[in-house]
Amino acid sequence: MLKSLAAGVFGALIVSAAAMPASAADDIESRVQVCAGCHGQNGVPINSATPIIWGQQANWLYKELHDYHSGDRANPFMASVAKMFTLPELREVANYFAAKPWPAPEHAGDPGAAPKSAEMCKACHQPNFQGGAPAPRLAGLSYDYLLTSMNAFADGRRTNNLDMPGFMKALSEADRDAIAHYLSAL
Ligand code: HEC
Ligand code: HEC
Repeated sequence: MLKSLAAGVFGALIVSAAAMPASAADDIESRVQVCAGCHGQNGVPINSATPIIWGQQANWLYKELHDYHSGDRANPFMASVAKMFTLPELREVANYFAAKPWPAPEHAGDPGAAPKSAEMCKACHQPNFQGGAPAPRLAGLSYDYLLTSMNAFADGRRTNNLDMPGFMKALSEADRDAIAHYLSAL
């Protein structure tokens, strides 16, 4: 008697779960599968031009997605991807990736001594360059991505921050190269 009652309740739960629309969280989880095509199934991007997004800070991820959506940050792939979502949905997408772990480095290098010119970056990117509320994580991003994004700020192609363009212009090309090498090996 008890058994059949339990089975009945369980059966009813299954039926009502199937009839319920997928929850917002499930919906986001299925819709972000597209991101894995480039940013990687396990958080390791498919190529060095694509940044790691797993484990970055939620508010910053949202700001970048917002900026691609609005055009404040220009990239043809990311603009079309961001426009598949509303801004409230992008907030959920950002929270989803922020909750993932930063992927383990594939080949931990020896970063050597920190370039002197990287000292001032710590005020925002944090002393270990692992990011925080003021600025994103840089430690362990690829050399290619770091150098490209530093140069994009320096030559005015990336303008979605007031401070970074000035900081990057103030560095020589050799400084930017040395910093990108150092940060990618952390
Ligand atoms: C076709 C490949 C591709 C797909 C699909 C893709 N991305 Fe990207 N994403 C990139 C590339 C390349 C960049 C770097 C672009 C740039 O330099 O502005 C990038 C940049 C980003 C950034 C900025 C990160 C940083 O370090 O500045 C975020 C956040 C991001 N993508 C999130 C997503 C999310 C979320 C999805 C899925 C909804 C997604 N991307 C789908 C290729 C892709
Ligand atoms: C005043 C705070 C501040 C300082 C100092 C600073 N940054 Fe940043 N940096 C930021 C912020 C905020 C962003 C995110 C900008 C955005 O919204 O895209 C950023 C973005 C970046 C990015 C792009 C990251 C990505 O994934 O797209 C790189 C690379 C970077 N900074 C390198 C540096 C380096 C190298 C230094 C030191 C020479 C430095 N920054 C100093 C605040 C700072």
